[in-house]
Amino acid sequence: MTNDFKRHRRLRQTPSIRSMIRETHLNPEDFIFPLFVIEGAKDNNDVRSMPGVYQVAYDNLKEEIDEIVGLGLTSVIVFGVPEEKDPYGKEAYHDHGIVQESIRFIKEYAPELTVVADTCLCQYTDHGHCGVIRDGVIENDMSLELLAKTAVTQAKAGADIIAPSNMMDGFVAYIRKALDEEGYPNIPIMSYAVKYASAFYGPFRDAAHSAPQFGDRKAYQMDPANRLEAKREVASDLEEGADFLIVKPALSYLDIMRETRDNSNVPIVAYNVSGEYSMIKAAAKEGWVDEKAIVTEKLLSMKRAGADLIVTYHAKDMARWLKES
Ligand code: PBG
Ligand code: ZN
Repeated sequence: MTNDFKRHRRLRQTPSIRSMIRETHLNPEDFIFPLFVIEGAKDNNDVRSMPGVYQVAYDNLKEEIDEIVGLGLTSVIVFGVPEEKDPYGKEAYHDHGIVQESIRFIKEYAPELTVVADTCLCQYTDHGHCGVIRDGVIENDMSLELLAKTAVTQAKAGADIIAPSNMMDGFVAYIRKALDEEGYPNIPIMSYAVKYASAFYGPFRDAAHSAPQFGDRKAYQMDPANRLEAKREVASDLEEGADFLIVKPALSYLDIMRETRDNSNVPIVAYNVSGEYSMIKAAAKEGWVDEKAIVTEKLLSMKRAGADLIVTYHAKDMARWLKES
């Protein structure tokens, strides 16, 4: 019998053959776990819109880090929820701010854990925007000064990687220069290079208390309709010295992930954002989807699209599932 077609199913016959030809794999060290630390709280707070995610009280950090390290995770990105906010986000660049103190604690307690510091002002400003405001608009260059100060205090506290998420123009160059001048030439910058103005951030703003109090972020974050704009952002961030590039959100932007991977030679990071997490959690709770299967598929697809690393709220669950199998 001669059939004139290809038999692709030859390589799908058994679990063993399928695993031999599998092109993409997930490992605990692929994940960066987002850690929210809340100032002045006695207990952890649940985040209503993100089941399984909580704001950790500073006094509970030890326990939290034990769990993270115990699961085999190798890095966290730290967000602070400060007690006080003001127009200039002063707590963001306070040497003893909640993020700085948390970084100090983690690096002392678990020095092998890589600590990424999110560098932005929105959790710290009373208006909730990522920069400072003049005449009702977010002022780019004035914001750079404060963001650079923030990065330097985070470096001083012991951060291993600085991750600026503010979307001001020139932030990579400005922060790089400040870090170099202050004696931190070896701290890499993980730039939120491609960050869209996305509805998928909704639950995060609950978790970080960082919703803008007026308007939206469309004058600094990107238009979801645009692809070429992402290439421009990538080009300028690489020129300014970014060591990693983040694409955010992940799931609706896998085309951008692939393109970013193909057009650059630095590690690419997918930010699997809060809305992407909460949708799955909600559906899983209803019993409508198989959580483990759907999360595995989703994270695999991000790596397949070109991500080397994934910032994800599923990190603990996924590490647990990887251990089991
Ligand atoms: C703001 C910031 C955002 C996220 C992290 N830092 C987005 C925003 O509020 O505009 C989103 C994270 C998520 O949704 O998981 N600097
Ligand atoms: Zn911000």
